[in-house]
Parts: sequence; C-alpha cells; structure tokens
Amino acid sequence: MSQEIDKKQQAEWEKRYIDKKTAWDRGDVSPALEKTLSKIPEPPSKVLIPACGRGHEVVSLAALGFDVTGVDFAPSAIHDLKYRLSRKNLIATLIDTDLFEWEPSESFDVIYEQTALCALNPDLWPEYARRLYHWLRPGGILVGMFMQTNRDGGPPWHVSLTTLQELFPKTLWGWSDNLNEIIEHPSGLQERFITLKRQD
Ligand SMILES: C[S@@+](CC[C@H](N)C(=O)[O-])C[C@H]1O[C@@H](n2cnc3c(N)ncnc32)[C@H](O)[C@@H]1O
Repeated sequence: MSQEIDKKQQAEWEKRYIDKKTAWDRGDVSPALEKTLSKIPEPPSKVLIPACGRGHEVVSLAALGFDVTGVDFAPSAIHDLKYRLSRKNLIATLIDTDLFEWEPSESFDVIYEQTALCALNPDLWPEYARRLYHWLRPGGILVGMFMQTNRDGGPPWHVSLTTLQELFPKTLWGWSDNLNEIIEHPSGLQERFITLKRQD
C-alpha cells in the first residue's frame, strides 16, 4: 500500500471525528468489556487496543490497573482520549501512528480488537492478522469484535466466520468454543465476539 493511500485513509478517519460522524462510538464501553475481563490475565497485564479511537476501553482498563497501549492514526481521537485520561488521573500509553508502520518494542499479553479489522480495507486483513500475531506474546489472548453487516462494502466491512477462520488458522491460534456470541451495537448492527489464543 502506498504512503499516499495511508494519508488519504488517515485524513478520512480524522474528518469523521472532526465532523462527529462516529456512529461506531457508543460514547461508553462496550458490554463486551465485562465479558472480556474473565478471559484475560489480571492487571497489570499488558493490553493493546489497536485503532482505539476515542478509547473508552482504554480509560476503563487503565482504571482497573491494566498496562494499556492505545494506537490510532486520527489525531483528534488520540487528543480527546489523552484529555479524558488526564482528567481522571489515569495513565496509558497512546501512540498516534499508522498500525502498518508501527513495531512495538515489547509484546502484549492481550489485544482488545474492537471494530478495528472491519474498519480496514479487506486487502489489508492478512497483513493486519499477521501483525496481531506478532504483537501478542506466545499464549497471549486476542479478544475480537467483528462487525456482521451482511452487506457489501464498508467500512464497516462484513467479517464472515469463514474469513476469520482463514485469517486466524488453527495452526497459529487456539479458538474458543463459542463462535456465535453476538454483541449488539446501538447502530443496529451486530458484532461477533470471539476469543483466540496465540499458539506458542
Ligand atoms: C470504526 S473506528 C473504531 C474505533 C474504536 N475501536 C471503537 O470501537 O470506538 C476505526 C478506527 O480505526 C482507526 N484506523 C483505521 N485505520 C488505521 C490505521 N491504519 N492505523 C491506525 N488507526 C487506524 C481510525 O482512525 C478509527 O479511529
């Protein structure tokens, strides 16, 4: 993907925040966060939230004592998140960059993937899945919420179970038993909630 396309994508997402056209943003944490807590190592484990947006989950997980890193390339979203963290005297690492340009120096125990993959052009999904694998430590947990729009086009793009099984093959990932857990979104859309464990 060329640098020109990255910049175009970044400008489009930034404009959505400036224009407040952020239908994906619940204004609060997703009910998925509560379900997540029983599936991940306790604080102060290291949690990565890629494409964190305004990061309600960054704030909540930081408040619970997790060592949270949020990454997003929309400056307005990161700026807003920084402000809300500081108002609550909370600390998290926030990185304003393109996920496809970023190489963390350490791996994470957990990745909380909330409507990030479905925001990316499907051409990027294999590379993004490869990155998720490398960002996690062996045995680390990937918690994912994948939009089920059942229509063409995006974002958000529809992410079928078959596509997920191709992107996260069992040779690399341990799959949870429940593949049909659904999180309702206020927009009327649904997210498939899946937990995967990085194999050693
Ligand atoms: C649909 S929003 C989801 C935000 C957040 N996860 C949430 O649930 O509120 C998608 C986010 O992905 C970010 N994004 C898209 N492509 C990105 C990239 N290549 N690098 C970093 N952030 C990206 C956008 O700026 C936007 O904040």
